Amino acid sequence: MNPTNQTVQQAQAGSLSAPPEPLPNAAPPMVSFEAVTKRFGTNDENQFTALDGVDLSVARGAITGIIGRSGAGKSTLIRLVNGLETATSGRVVVDGIEVGGLSETGLRDLRRQVGMIFQHFNLLSSRTAFENVALPLEIAGLDGKSIRDKVAPLLDLVGLGDKSNRYPAELSGGQKQRVGIARALATSPKLLLSDEATSALDPETTQSILDLLKRINAELGLTVLLITHEMEVVKTIASDVAVIDRGRIVEAGRTFDVFTGAKHDTTRSLLSAALGTKLPEWVGSKLKPQPSIGDRVLVRLIFFGSTAFQPLTGRLVAELGADVNILAGSIEEIAGEPYGSLVVAYPADHAVLERANRFYAATGLKTEVLGYVA
Ligand SMILES: Nc1ncnc2c1ncn2[C@@H]1O[C@H](COP(=O)(O)OP(=O)(O)O)[C@@H](O)[C@H]1O
Ligand SMILES: [Mg+2]
Repeated sequence: MNPTNQTVQQAQAGSLSAPPEPLPNAAPPMVSFEAVTKRFGTNDENQFTALDGVDLSVARGAITGIIGRSGAGKSTLIRLVNGLETATSGRVVVDGIEVGGLSETGLRDLRRQVGMIFQHFNLLSSRTAFENVALPLEIAGLDGKSIRDKVAPLLDLVGLGDKSNRYPAELSGGQKQRVGIARALATSPKLLLSDEATSALDPETTQSILDLLKRINAELGLTVLLITHEMEVVKTIASDVAVIDRGRIVEAGRTFDVFTGAKHDTTRSLLSAALGTKLPEWVGSKLKPQPSIGDRVLVRLIFFGSTAFQPLTGRLVAELGADVNILAGSIEEIAGEPYGSLVVAYPADHAVLERANRFYAATGLKTEVLGYVA
């Protein structure tokens, strides 16, 4: 449906008193996995189920992250999208087309629509940056001039306009990945797949590559599907996330919601490495699971959304009427939204705990009791 039609329909719905028809939902997903299972191996002894009934939608125009530990099935999942692997059962649908049903020609067309970048860049060492980016266009049969017209602006886009004649061995890791990105964009795909594209890079270079992916997503409207084992990557750029564990999607949704309301152990343990304030060393060793008389309770307060900027700490101290220590604290961003974590300690006596719980309930603060100290 084009925008004009939509406006007309809205206007008509508005002029009638009948309940308006639901507007067509956001565009259909760019990728959908429907009950996808992938088994490797041919007989019972060597058979291994890498993906087990995966259902997942990848929103058009978004940056979606799939996170999981090594061996969880991430690469297998992403390789199904461009037909590098074939599902044992279930369907993988890319922009309305089922990948499993494609002929050789259909697969070639699909791969022009779906670019991919890799952890180890996969550049040809005998070709310059320019020639690497040109490769998919040569394969597509473009002539020299068309290729030059396409490659030069792409190298500019990724910030390598002046490195066009360099060989991979003369480039840094970040620069090689930029060549990889330019090459992936050469055929003007609508979907970019990224398999651990920043995992071989240092944190600063990782950030610059993530910034570039974000810019490409915003400026070219390209849908990005990335897989990673690094929470930091998802937290920085993905608006949506799915958590995969042993071939199953255990949680999925808006990144902020999944991270702040993590339900599954895998999500929690991946998160604990990346989010939240580390406790001071001395605390860890003295923490007890149960209180004794006179102990203090250690509580982690999580601030986000509308609570993030309220002066809650001051109010907590006033409200408790007891001495409160702040042991650690930080504010960071998840998918662009503030997320704060504060570890406080106060007397674990009945009256104080009751006042604290009332305060948490009234303010909507999320809390987690970490333990007790003498
Ligand atoms: N071609 C293959 N043959 C047999 N087993 C495979 C093959 N590819 C992947 N696997 C297995 O499937 C599981 C998931 O692998 P993979 O998708 O690469 O995980 P991840 O990318 O999350 O680390 C692993 O246990 C891996 O050994
Ligand atoms: Mg992998």
